[in-house]
Amino acid sequence: MKWFLNAPGLLVALCLAGLSTSADSVMESATIDGQDDYVPHRYIVEMESLAGFAGKRANMGHSAHADVYHGMRKRGIPFGIDREYNAHGIFVGASMRIESANDVSKLSEIPGVKAIRPVMRIPRPEPVEQHIVNDPRDPHVPPNALSTHIMTGVDKLHAEGLSGEGIKIGIIDSGIDYTHPALGGAMGDGHKVVGGYDFTGDAYDGNNDPQPDDDPLDTCAGHGTHVAGIIGADPVNKFSMKGVAPKASIYSYRAFSCISSGQEDILVQALLRAQADGMDVITVSAGHVNGWTGSTASLVANRIAEQGRVVTVSAGNDGLEGAWYTNSPATAAHVISVGSIYNNFIPAQNATVLGADHPPIPYLRALPLNITGELAIFATSTKPDEDAACKHLPDDTPDLSDRVVILRADTCSMRRKMHNVAKKGGKFFLIYYPEDDPWTLHIGGKSSPDASISGPDGAWLVEQFAAGNEIKLSFSSESADAAFNVPNWLGGRVAFTSSFGPTFDMHMKPALSAPGANILSTFPVALGGFAVLSGTSMATPFVAGTAALMLQAKGRNADVESAMRDLFQSTATPALSLNPGRDLFQTAAQQGAGLLQAHNAVHSKTIVTPAQLLLNDTAHFAPKHTVQIKNTGSQPVTYELSHVAAATVMTLQPNSAHAALGPLDPVDAGADVVIEPSEFTVAPGATQNVEISFTAPKNVDEVQLPVFSGFIKIDSPTASLQVTYMGTVGDLKKQTILETTDAFFGIKLPALRGPDREPVDTSTVPVYTMVKRDHPTVVYRLLFGSPLIRFDLCDKDIDLTPTILRRASAPVLGDADPTGVSTRGLLKQVTHRPRNSEQATSERSPKAVEHFRFYGEFANFTRIPNGEYRILMRALKVTGDPSKAEDYESWLSPIFAVNYPEA
Ligand SMILES: *[C@@H]1O[C@H](CO)[C@@H](O)[C@H](O)[C@H]1NC(C)=O
Ligand SMILES: *[C@@H]1O[C@H](CO)[C@@H](O)[C@H](O)[C@H]1NC(C)=O
Ligand SMILES: *[C@@H]1O[C@H](CO)[C@@H](O)[C@H](O)[C@H]1NC(C)=O
Ligand SMILES: *[C@@H]1O[C@H](CO)[C@@H](O)[C@H](O)[C@H]1NC(C)=O
Repeated sequence: MKWFLNAPGLLVALCLAGLSTSADSVMESATIDGQDDYVPHRYIVEMESLAGFAGKRANMGHSAHADVYHGMRKRGIPFGIDREYNAHGIFVGASMRIESANDVSKLSEIPGVKAIRPVMRIPRPEPVEQHIVNDPRDPHVPPNALSTHIMTGVDKLHAEGLSGEGIKIGIIDSGIDYTHPALGGAMGDGHKVVGGYDFTGDAYDGNNDPQPDDDPLDTCAGHGTHVAGIIGADPVNKFSMKGVAPKASIYSYRAFSCISSGQEDILVQALLRAQADGMDVITVSAGHVNGWTGSTASLVANRIAEQGRVVTVSAGNDGLEGAWYTNSPATAAHVISVGSIYNNFIPAQNATVLGADHPPIPYLRALPLNITGELAIFATSTKPDEDAACKHLPDDTPDLSDRVVILRADTCSMRRKMHNVAKKGGKFFLIYYPEDDPWTLHIGGKSSPDASISGPDGAWLVEQFAAGNEIKLSFSSESADAAFNVPNWLGGRVAFTSSFGPTFDMHMKPALSAPGANILSTFPVALGGFAVLSGTSMATPFVAGTAALMLQAKGRNADVESAMRDLFQSTATPALSLNPGRDLFQTAAQQGAGLLQAHNAVHSKTIVTPAQLLLNDTAHFAPKHTVQIKNTGSQPVTYELSHVAAATVMTLQPNSAHAALGPLDPVDAGADVVIEPSEFTVAPGATQNVEISFTAPKNVDEVQLPVFSGFIKIDSPTASLQVTYMGTVGDLKKQTILETTDAFFGIKLPALRGPDREPVDTSTVPVYTMVKRDHPTVVYRLLFGSPLIRFDLCDKDIDLTPTILRRASAPVLGDADPTGVSTRGLLKQVTHRPRNSEQATSERSPKAVEHFRFYGEFANFTRIPNGEYRILMRALKVTGDPSKAEDYESWLSPIFAVNYPEA
């Protein structure tokens, strides 16, 4: 099968008769212009590997590439080749430039072409937080530079002499400053950083040509150097900071330059190179929000993992976006996707109080707030149960540009509050939770103007404001020097920012978590030498380093590598929910199996497979599973199995199809689980099968699409292991995909807009010349992922009732030609789209909204004739059948006219 989705008959099913078969093949050609996460006119073409044929043709000098290029020339398809892939058994193909979508369609018919996928942009990996440190006494340095090793038992493995020696780890990132003394000082044989490749050069910006060479030195970005230190730093440094696998051999594959985003075709190249170079472990701290397993990079990462290499990939830092928002290629089924856990220590700053006799107010932030002078305070709420900032602030609100605004974190989303305050000029925020416990919310990024303070301090400031007392706060550098580390009561819990799964096909992402918030590691010498960074980017190399220790302990072989995820997941320890006062375990949709326990993973004598059970949604519920428990020890072991539910999370807002924002509230409503047998003794070397059957939680509202999860605990007198499960209550196929409200940007979506950006007026038919900007645009938002979005041109009086009806633009039914109507042809198609952000409040944010700009051409670049038309937009439901009309949401645009100027 070619393409991801072969959807023959789709148009026919929906738009009745009259379609040529060429429209069908054109449909698959998909122009993907205007989608900000695609690189325009670039495709990765996967080819049949000739290695599979009898070697004859290959011996005669043929290659899969030459055959396909020959076929393209013969059909007159102009193309450019950016790079070629030649990894037999994994991926053979090329990244190509092809201008016309029609040519892409023709290409799909050439023998030897297996699939054609668009090239995605991969954002440059950015930490949630970054602070460069020079001095061990710098307050941002966690008091115990090895706290993360202690949390996970890595320190014990080091004490046993494990160091990763003899294991090769490939780091795909922004390069490594191997001149750093803690990273060996040089690159080459006998050094810590042995080799690698630079696929980009410093100045590659995602649009210009990369300047590849053999030297993956990072002097400008820092991200890859930090990752390398987490894996392999030597402890001979002023912080005594040490990597997880300090004697592993590191190879650096530089796929991100100093600036801007990367491209998927380069990431694929780096993955294949790392595989070819014989890396035992490949780690990638990058990706793009996607939620599907469909990208080429996911596919390649998956095949490498399936062949027995360990591939670790970061889950992403979008925890505040809520569920169903995980990164690709971490989505690939066989890679180990990694979430982030808070370090046990957290940096804080003191703000000085002026105008009252009150001790300094600590706020949580790695860097002081960038505020000079003294600022008066302002509160949008003086009563506990109402907050003016949830709506537009009253007209008599003063200019807030020189105030620090105290916000209480409840009632409505923090983004909305900040947005409303910003409209009155507000720039600086202190956030508190109205609980007795200090709530260490830590969302303040390196440039964001917010920080959290304790509940009592927040309440005191609001009281002072309400009483009219003129309190001012100073964040000046004197008080910034007073920064300090506080034990983080969230230490060991999942970072707020760590992205939630599941994927839209109900895989558990992340697989597990590792320390990733407030992590000290190496940084390029030119940029200060050491830095404290936060994010799943930091957690991922921690797991990669642990995999190296495991391979050193158990031997480098494909069996150990394939078993790695099961070993990590079954020995991890689940983290508690973030919310204060709740003892529930955090949902596996954000933590996977929980915090990595390296020592237990390496030494467990009990082997549990599989270590994760995927229960899917209600419509595809998989209630029965068999787990094997093997005793590899020399003594009989008695096991006792029991069930512990994790918090169930409502992934949609109440009475709404909009995703709930993170952190998601935990609900105490677990599945019912029957374990058979639940107590037994296993002889040395023997295996016991256990049948586990699940009944999904009943007392939860499936309209809010609850995700439930939990752990089957496997306890023996000497160890405690677990199997993690996850499912959802509700039918993914029923989830609303298209935004139909005006909650965003004040207009009902989807909408057809003209060049003036105003929605098309349905009382008159607008006429577009299609010259320059004079064309219509469909503006839409996706509330949930969709495997397929397509736009077709229809006659203005098409007889079709779309699922989304709007009084003002309802189609004129009954006017239709009784012989049946057809669409005029495909305009555009995109596959495997993620949902849009519920947080982005500006239409300028590419994550908030999508546009289909209609330039007057079919997908095959044929100009449409003058006339009056509608655009039919359809979104396929998750798990929907592309050939069934009822599995789509559909929307018909108002009528518009195309009238080209006289030539
Ligand atoms: C910060 O302020 C708190 C009081 O609110 C105080 O106990 C602490 O010592 C201060 N820290 C520093 C480093 O000044
Ligand atoms: C602090 O704010 C000033 C003024 O807005 C800005 O110019 C400067 O770059 C900021 N510094 C940092 C470290 O963000
Ligand atoms: C869940 O069910 C859907 C529909 O059959 C399927 O495509 C998907 O792969 C399933 N997911 C898992 C994890 O089994
Ligand atoms: C392009 O697509 C349109 C609509 O499907 C079709 O009518 C037209 O014949 C196609 N043109 C070419 C050159 O294939």
